[in-house]
Amino acid sequence: MTSQEQDFQALVDSDQRIEPRDWMPEAYRKTLIRQIAQHAHSEIIGMQPEGNWISRAPSLRRKAILMAKVQDEAGHGLYLYAAAETLGADRADLLDMLHNGRQKYSSIFNYPTLTWADMGAIGWLVDGAAIVNQVPLCRCSYGPYARAMVRVCKEESFHQRQGFEILNTLSHGTPAQHDMAQDAVNRWWWPSLMMFGPPDTDSPNSAQSMAWGVKRFSNDDLRQRFVDMTVPQSEALGLTLPDPEVAWNEKRESYDFGEIDFTELFEVIKGNGPCNKARVEHRRRAHNDGAWVREAASAYAAKRRTASETAA
Ligand code: 3HC
Repeated sequence: MTSQEQDFQALVDSDQRIEPRDWMPEAYRKTLIRQIAQHAHSEIIGMQPEGNWISRAPSLRRKAILMAKVQDEAGHGLYLYAAAETLGADRADLLDMLHNGRQKYSSIFNYPTLTWADMGAIGWLVDGAAIVNQVPLCRCSYGPYARAMVRVCKEESFHQRQGFEILNTLSHGTPAQHDMAQDAVNRWWWPSLMMFGPPDTDSPNSAQSMAWGVKRFSNDDLRQRFVDMTVPQSEALGLTLPDPEVAWNEKRESYDFGEIDFTELFEVIKGNGPCNKARVEHRRRAHNDGAWVREAASAYAAKRRTASETAA
């Protein structure tokens, strides 16, 4: 190890933050850009499955809440692209990589939203899983990412509660509403468990990311934490989880659960999920349609710069 590497690791080990101008190993920078960009892309692509229901929300109140939530996801994407830029990444390049399939986004957003109850299941399960995964990232060793996560997590906890509230209302509504809520939970449960990534034995990045303080807990530990948090909530909702093997384990003081079909996760990550093509095509179209906004904003900024230079 060089002395620079030793100093860097000592900072990480003493739980201090690495800031953009600090020296860092090139592989650390690359790992962070990869993870932060994937995270940003997930937030932006994640607007689609829910945006799809804004015009069909069952009341004005529900519509206003859903719009605010989808807007929050756009904001999360922007904080994260800004955090990636502090590492020298170019936002336009990152978007190109999303559009041509060279960078990933979360598997979870490749599933369709078939009914209004899916808005509840996404809020409760997907945002619930996101919170479990992202709260430890508030202590990530890279300062700008950790700080962005603080606000993101506060907003995610509102999202999780709104999802719980939608499901609670449906679950205690008419039998048809209850069935719709149960059907949504049945479809979103396993994909939500897959969000945490491959099992630890099959997670190539975990060991190094943990040594660098980027990840604080392994994929399986966070998945278990999510199950432990969610099972009692499903009981409170009056809904069941689609896994007959869920059972309290006295010895481990945790819930056991059934085996996850990770081949499905790998297929979705490879691009073969039910909605991968539609999500990326929609994203590319939205980017092209928004070109004039980016051009107008750049022209306006240039005009302001010239005006302030002339005044000076
Ligand atoms: N979907 C897509 N790709 C996934 C994945 C998933 N659910 N889980 C793992 N992968 C990918 C990894 O990115 C990695 O890709 P690579 O080929 O570029 O190396 C590969 O599979 C191997 O997995 P690892 O476990 O080795 O990878 P990581 O150490 O990066 O761990 C992670 C994966 C836990 C997702 C981690 O990157 C992480 O914590 N990321 C930050 C959080 C994040 O991106 N969340 C996405 C959801 S955001 C969200 O839900 C928005 C909210 O509003 C709902």
